[in-house]
Amino acid sequence: MLHHLLSLETLTTGDVSSLLSQAQTMKRQRGTSSRSTAPLAGQTIALLFEKPSLRTRVSFEVAALELGAQSLYLSPQEVGLGKRESVGDVARVLSTYVHAVVIRTFSHSILEEFASQSQVPVINGLTDAHHPCQGLTDVFTIAEEFGDVAGRTLAYVGDGNNCAHSLLQAALKMGMHVRIATPPGYGPDPMVVARAQRDAMLTGGSITLLHDPFDAVRGVDAIYTDVWTSMGQEAEAEQRRAIFAAYQVNAALVHNAAPDSIVLHPLPAHRGEEITDEVLDGSHSRVVREAENRLHVQKAILRTLLVPAESLAVLTA
Ligand code: CP
Repeated sequence: MLHHLLSLETLTTGDVSSLLSQAQTMKRQRGTSSRSTAPLAGQTIALLFEKPSLRTRVSFEVAALELGAQSLYLSPQEVGLGKRESVGDVARVLSTYVHAVVIRTFSHSILEEFASQSQVPVINGLTDAHHPCQGLTDVFTIAEEFGDVAGRTLAYVGDGNNCAHSLLQAALKMGMHVRIATPPGYGPDPMVVARAQRDAMLTGGSITLLHDPFDAVRGVDAIYTDVWTSMGQEAEAEQRRAIFAAYQVNAALVHNAAPDSIVLHPLPAHRGEEITDEVLDGSHSRVVREAENRLHVQKAILRTLLVPAESLAVLTA
């Protein structure tokens, strides 16, 4: 049976805990003499990207290098996934050359089709529905700040998008209380919410969907936001700016959270839209550390998928 990371849906609390714990070790060991192990020596990780990226591309390339593997970046112009060649043909051929494939694409069904035809692990580097590497990193960053995340409260303010889905899944598997404030009609996928609610029953967490951002952030430990217009939605940008105007994370909103609250954003940010400069660059912001943590979490993911005997958990999706 093949093992992939397509979303966080099927991961157990134990799987998430194991990845976060491994990421913590990776982070601690980086820059010390004990980092010299190369568990992926001789392996190649392909990065097949149909959208732009800074964090995902660079952090996966550095993660591969530091684990002893090499990476191979494939741009949209080179492959033409599903256009120049069928998704299945690309998957069947590419997976004879490399040991894992990180894919950034549009429809989640393309990723699922690719994984179904791949001989090697496939990792979701962002689809329109999920961003699991980001969601795991977000919870890792909250845990780094507060210690145990179970029982902590998190408010997501803005668009119920791919980052919201993966954040919800990761946070609920770890027993957090998540409030999601979106404009009516822009909430997260009800299926994702229903499944996360099942996780909440097991972990003691909770989900609250609302529309008022001030109600959402009252007393919370962490505030999270993301762009109002995701990649591929550019034609809706002006309409979305008007619809989401009341959902900006600014100083007045942050003032309603706990005094030691942190602010997260996956980046890139549209400064002055979903978040102000004052907040993004202010004392509550942890966005640069959050971006750095992508590296450590993705090293844990690569190691878990490619050296399963050394890992405590097995991921399936
Ligand atoms: N957060 C994130 O995925 O950043 P990139 O789009 O730069 O990869």
